Amino acid sequence: MSDAKNQAARLASTIPSDLLPTVTCFPRLPWPIDLSQSQSQPADISCGHLSRLDIKSKDDSEKASFDFSVGALIGSGGFGIVHSAEQSCLNREVAIKRVRPDRRSAAAEEQLQREAHLMGRLEHPAIPPAYLIGMGNDKEPVLVMRWIRGVPWNDKLAEFPSSEGDGLLRGAVLRNELNSFIRICEAVAFSHGQGIIHRDIKPSNIVIGQYGEVYLLDWGISVELQDDGVYNALGFAGTPCFAAPEMLSRAPKLDARTDVYLLGSTLYNIVTGYPPHQGETTEEVFERILTSPMPTFAEGWPDALKMLCRKAMEADPNDRYASARAMLEDLRYVIEYGELTELEADCDQDLNALIEMAEDRNKDISKFNELGTRCRFGLERILHEWPSNTTVARNLEKCLYLLCNAAISQQRIAAARSIMVQYRELAGDTGADRADVMRHRIDALADQLIAKGDELSMNIQVQLIERLAAKEQEYDELMVAYKKLCK
Ligand SMILES: Nc1ncnc2c1ncn2[C@@H]1O[C@H](COP(=O)(O)OP(=O)(O)O)[C@@H](O)[C@H]1O
Ligand SMILES: [Mg+2]
Repeated sequence: MSDAKNQAARLASTIPSDLLPTVTCFPRLPWPIDLSQSQSQPADISCGHLSRLDIKSKDDSEKASFDFSVGALIGSGGFGIVHSAEQSCLNREVAIKRVRPDRRSAAAEEQLQREAHLMGRLEHPAIPPAYLIGMGNDKEPVLVMRWIRGVPWNDKLAEFPSSEGDGLLRGAVLRNELNSFIRICEAVAFSHGQGIIHRDIKPSNIVIGQYGEVYLLDWGISVELQDDGVYNALGFAGTPCFAAPEMLSRAPKLDARTDVYLLGSTLYNIVTGYPPHQGETTEEVFERILTSPMPTFAEGWPDALKMLCRKAMEADPNDRYASARAMLEDLRYVIEYGELTELEADCDQDLNALIEMAEDRNKDISKFNELGTRCRFGLERILHEWPSNTTVARNLEKCLYLLCNAAISQQRIAAARSIMVQYRELAGDTGADRADVMRHRIDALADQLIAKGDELSMNIQVQLIERLAAKEQEYDELMVAYKKLCK
């Protein structure tokens, strides 16, 4: 057996068999289990000090006074069950989460209290506010929070018809979902700022409200990072088909970048409609994550979004975005400049080809010029609309430098000079030396051509004089028109 197979088998065998999804590991089977906490953490939280909540269930019809009256089932996950409830004193409807009756244990109850305590610290527009944690009638902890009226995101995503046969979200629909995703990234970045990682980010833990509000729920296995920004887990906790490879290691060392991977997994699910890791059994899913943590990206993925998703889902956390905030910044650009980022990817390709061609002595000159011109105009267009994109500015510099040198060697003096001027302006002081070298080469070439009485150089001079005269005439005409206007 390979290492990955061994590890996947070992890990899968540590999970209680009644929690194992048998057919396939889709997010529809919410499955957060925190073995690390149930196995290891000391019972620092006890139900004893929780205040009693008088909860009326549907069967207690004759009860007169109560704090909460339980209503309909809202949803349930691998560990909790959530109902709507009426809070009598404030006359409002809330959501109450309790441990699923078939999952009750001291560890599970502790987990719910830990969830409440962490949620209590996370006051953010995209995180449901925890109202209180108390003890229910049969001594079970009850987490009371805002009831987000809406649909789980995975249900919403499942409704989208596959537009072009490949099932990938595109255009306005994609843009809309990405705007919801931004809210989630903001919530995660905020929680990281509080030293808390979520560990179970996925569409079924996100609810989209009736008015487009977006909420990240289920902080059940979230944990506080140590001072060094790391959380040493003792086992796997999370949802396999979204999990990051480090969550599967023997002694998982988790940090904010683990959530970055999970954000990448969620993004992958948004665009494709399915989670990144799949398999018939948990063991198979684990093995896939260990052997190929980067999912495949089908043709048709928008380039810029693909680059972003890949960067979030790199196997090695050091290669990922260093933080949710950094990922968020890129995401904002991708949404705002979506079409431009596609053009940027094309220009990158052109520039690489141009650099390669520049070194080839036997290159096809007209092809080189054509490629260079396309690359130059593409980069200029991006920079015009997106002036803060410094990568594009640097690439345009490189492109102009290559084009100027090529124009000099092709003895196209006017072109070389105008490219050199543009290069000088763009590169500023850092490019001044290079621009000077180019200028000297152009001047030397001009002298050489003039000295030779070269017909070409004469032509150039004539052309320049004619152009100058035309400009002067244009200027005069404009002045006349202007003066007329002023009268
Ligand atoms: N505050 C809430 N408002 C509305 N729906 C909720 C709320 N909390 C949970 N839910 C629903 O209940 C489901 C299960 O809750 P969750 O906290 O994810 O449980 P688990 O910890 O078992 O995964 C969620 O997927 C969501 O659909
Ligand atoms: Mg859940």
